[in-house]
Amino acid sequence: MAGVVTLIKDDHAQLEKVFKQLEAQKGDVKKLLQQVEELLVPHSKAEEEVVYPAIKQTAPDEADEVDDGLAEHHHVEEVLTQLLGMDPDEPGADGLIAAMIGEVRHHVEEEEQDILPKFSDEASNQQLSELGERFTAAKEKYLEELRSARSRTA
Ligand SMILES: [Fe+2]
Ligand SMILES: [Fe+2]
Repeated sequence: MAGVVTLIKDDHAQLEKVFKQLEAQKGDVKKLLQQVEELLVPHSKAEEEVVYPAIKQTAPDEADEVDDGLAEHHHVEEVLTQLLGMDPDEPGADGLIAAMIGEVRHHVEEEEQDILPKFSDEASNQQLSELGERFTAAKEKYLEELRSARSRTA
């Protein structure tokens, strides 16, 4: 099992691929936004449940950054929910998509450049790999939740 930092970065890279497609306006915008939701929401919730508390414990200097990260997750999720309720051709949708992508990129950069490197300096390999397993399991649980919520409203 890869360590949690690698798993998180892999998710970020997958998300970036969908962002590139949205920016290139290739494909069905609504479907792409749903892909963003499936990649981003379970990822963020699994970070909140499994990873962020471990970072606060192991690297307490990062606590403020982690709290900022949490607030960023919540804001991005609000924007995404708003977008999923809109017609992609509506005026303002493009601007909102661009703003959401910008926010996520900023957040990812903070995780990858600051929070995660400081955490992996302090954490043992065993801790990183155990967290990786728990992160993956939590993500699966939240993806399942998202899909069943979606099928109830569809
Ligand atoms: Fe992340
Ligand atoms: Fe995050």
